[in-house]
Amino acid sequence: MALVQRTGCWLNVRRSCEFSSCSRLASLVLCSRARQHHPHHSDFIACRSVHTESAPASENSKATASSSKHLISSRQIELTFAELQLKPIQEQVGGCRIRQHVNPLKASLMAPVKSPKWDEIFSDCSRPLTVDIGCGSGRFLLVLAKRNSSENFLGIDIRAQLVDRAKLWAEELELSNAHFMTTNATVNLNSLLSTYPGPLTYVTILCPDPHFKQRHHKRRVVQKQLVDTVLEHLAPRGKLFVQSDVKEVAVDMRRQFDEHLGVRLVHCGSFPRDSAGWVLENPLGLPSEREVHVLTQGGMVYRSLYERI
Ligand SMILES: C[S@@+](CC[C@H](N)C(=O)[O-])C[C@H]1O[C@@H](n2cnc3c(N)ncnc32)[C@H](O)[C@@H]1O
Repeated sequence: MALVQRTGCWLNVRRSCEFSSCSRLASLVLCSRARQHHPHHSDFIACRSVHTESAPASENSKATASSSKHLISSRQIELTFAELQLKPIQEQVGGCRIRQHVNPLKASLMAPVKSPKWDEIFSDCSRPLTVDIGCGSGRFLLVLAKRNSSENFLGIDIRAQLVDRAKLWAEELELSNAHFMTTNATVNLNSLLSTYPGPLTYVTILCPDPHFKQRHHKRRVVQKQLVDTVLEHLAPRGKLFVQSDVKEVAVDMRRQFDEHLGVRLVHCGSFPRDSAGWVLENPLGLPSEREVHVLTQGGMVYRSLYERI
């Protein structure tokens, strides 16, 4: 019931999105926007009451509530990417369980990679390129590639099993404009982008691993080196979209990119921001997997959208 009520609320704030062929905003994206505008809206009270147990709960009922929340967000993720018509997602890839977290600083991930032969990867490598850094399962990028056949899409992730599966999906979908690579973006993005023949027009960094402990902050993907690389290669008027469900991480990313405001970047004015400067809705009209999960659970997503000068 809460979902139906929420849908009614989302419909009132429907807006256009960055890629012209995206005709609708995924309704979940609008959840946080509506909540930011109407924090006491009954839809969200209903939503919260679904998600929080006020009475003291037994261990069993807590476990049931948590697994049903998980089921709801898994279902919502399947619905978000339903247009790909992929077989139900498997937790096992190649017989091995996918590890939740990988240390990007381990030796094997610090090695430089050779740039691919772009003309063997994309049917036309002079087309504008979108890069998704830390693409996870890749379904977000596959949908963008499917909807925008005149542009190229590259997903980068350090988890090889996810990348291998995303490559298989791209083949299954016969998408000659989508490619995935297992590589450490912090180390290798510069050499990859240096050889791409077309313009880099869009970069996304969506819900990167937070690495909460201070001593692990150096594992975060947004480091000075990556910021410099993105700004060096992003074409004039190219867009940079970063977001996190962890406010501290979003603030950290924003701080690093804001250092270039007025010189190499401006905040993109096409999408409204709240009083703290966070962009209220997903400019691509398509939520990332982590974003769907967070919004389904009633969480917040903190977004920044920049344009290269
Ligand atoms: C929390 S997931 C988010 C996935 C996806 N962007 C989303 O929003 O659903 C973060 C992803 O970033 C990847 N990652 C972390 N550090 C990376 C790095 N240095 N280079 C490339 N990918 C990285 C992780 O393997 C993981 O798949």
